Amino acid sequence: MLCATFPIIVTALSLLGMSLTASAFPGMTAESLQARQAVPPVPLPLSQNEGNCGIIPCTTFNAADQFVDVRPGTPHQFVPPGPNDKRGPCPGLNAAANHNFVPHNGIGTVAQFAAGLEEAYNFTPELGTVLATIGVALTGDLIAGTWSIGDPYPASLLGGLLSSPEGLSFSHNAYETDASMTRADAYMNNGDAYHLQMDRFMALYNRSELYTLDIVRQHNKDMRDWSVQNNPYFFSAPFAGLVTPIAHTLPPLCFSNHSAANIQGYLDRTILKSFFAVSGPENALVYTPGHERIPLNWYRRPSNNKLGLVNGMSDLAVTAARFPELISIGGNTGTVNSFVGINPADVTGGVFNAVNLLQGNNMACFVLQAIQAATPSLLSGLVSALGLSNALNLLNNVINPVKSNMACPLMTTFNTGAFAQFPGSSWHP
Ligand code: HEM
Ligand SMILES: *[C@@H]1O[C@H](CO)[C@@H](O)[C@H](O)[C@H]1NC(C)=O
Ligand SMILES: *[C@@H]1O[C@H](CO)[C@@H](O)[C@H](O)[C@H]1NC(C)=O
Repeated sequence: MLCATFPIIVTALSLLGMSLTASAFPGMTAESLQARQAVPPVPLPLSQNEGNCGIIPCTTFNAADQFVDVRPGTPHQFVPPGPNDKRGPCPGLNAAANHNFVPHNGIGTVAQFAAGLEEAYNFTPELGTVLATIGVALTGDLIAGTWSIGDPYPASLLGGLLSSPEGLSFSHNAYETDASMTRADAYMNNGDAYHLQMDRFMALYNRSELYTLDIVRQHNKDMRDWSVQNNPYFFSAPFAGLVTPIAHTLPPLCFSNHSAANIQGYLDRTILKSFFAVSGPENALVYTPGHERIPLNWYRRPSNNKLGLVNGMSDLAVTAARFPELISIGGNTGTVNSFVGINPADVTGGVFNAVNLLQGNNMACFVLQAIQAATPSLLSGLVSALGLSNALNLLNNVINPVKSNMACPLMTTFNTGAFAQFPGSSWHP
């Protein structure tokens, strides 16, 4: 049933070779550059002892650096969304908006998201910039340079000529995808892949009282198996299909609370519930959509070990090494349990294959080029020709310098002909 596309071949995943220069991302600090050089090879056996900071262990705790002040009366106090504020499938973004780290209405620019996610979670500006730029290019207003973390919104006067911003909530197969941590598959839930499903949350919640990377990877595997077994339209696209396994690692990596006694951080049930907008006693949990919340007295990961593209993608590669099917491209062919995997070498004209994808910088190189290559078809019918060229320019300006600094093998073909057999690949809510 599961494709043999990515056999478990884990070679030293040395992302060490990466040396991004600060010029591409003016906000980048010497610290984040140093963190790059410190990425160790993936430990074998896979991940068993990995702390919640991820592949690069945290080594320090500094209360002043890590305390995120969300006390009532401060600029980052919790303010629930009003009726016109956008909230969507991503708890990290929803919570950042509720605490005004990013615009409270849920619509903002790349710079606003890059700065806000760094302040709230110690995302590197580089990672925030890449993810938010993809948000603008695929779901946003190409003239205003904004995007929505939830519902569609009216474009600016000129932007409206190019595209109509659909927002993260309706970015199925572009950004949002199947087999999510707590959200339903769009096809199985009348297009709603943005609200938390309590049974899925309970399945996660019940796994442990402390959530580690190993635990969320096992959850990821089970959610994926469920989709293959129940969703005839299950589809995992070359880019969006990787967003889910990345998202699964983010609660340990970025929702954990840190302290002197627990430098790697820990994620307990109370903290998990807060970030997922769930409250109430265990036998009567209640989900309040849009009320994702950073807990009081919470300490983020340290500034000398931010979460960036390199360590983030390394943790995705650990996931892939442990459960290769979680990063496979492909889907069900219209009935349940009919999963067919597409060989990455066939998609990329041989540039990336199941073996080299887990080596060096290739995972990051593939992710970045997959989104560049997929954009014309993802936007077809949604934006004008000028809109498409604007979107590609936006992506290229941010992604090309990263690619060249990583000395990425360059993809010249992107062959998606085989996707025709997957009805889920063209289904749009
Ligand atoms: C610009 C930055 C970001 C973008 C564009 C983004 C986008 C997304 C998208 C599209 C999903 C849905 C994936 C799916 O369908 O399975 C998602 C889910 C998720 N994101 Fe984000 N995200 C961002 C930042 C963050 C941050 C900073 C965190 C944590 C601190 C985070 C944590 C999560 C988690 C835990 C999920 C899984 C939700 C679930 O299925 O229950 N994200 N994100
Ligand atoms: C989680 O555990 C509770 C209490 O043991 C149980 O009632 C519930 O059915 C479990 N739910 C899931 C989805 O595993
Ligand atoms: C985080 O850890 C500190 C130190 O142990 C503790 O005082 C605080 O209550 C914790 N915060 C949360 C949200 O659990």
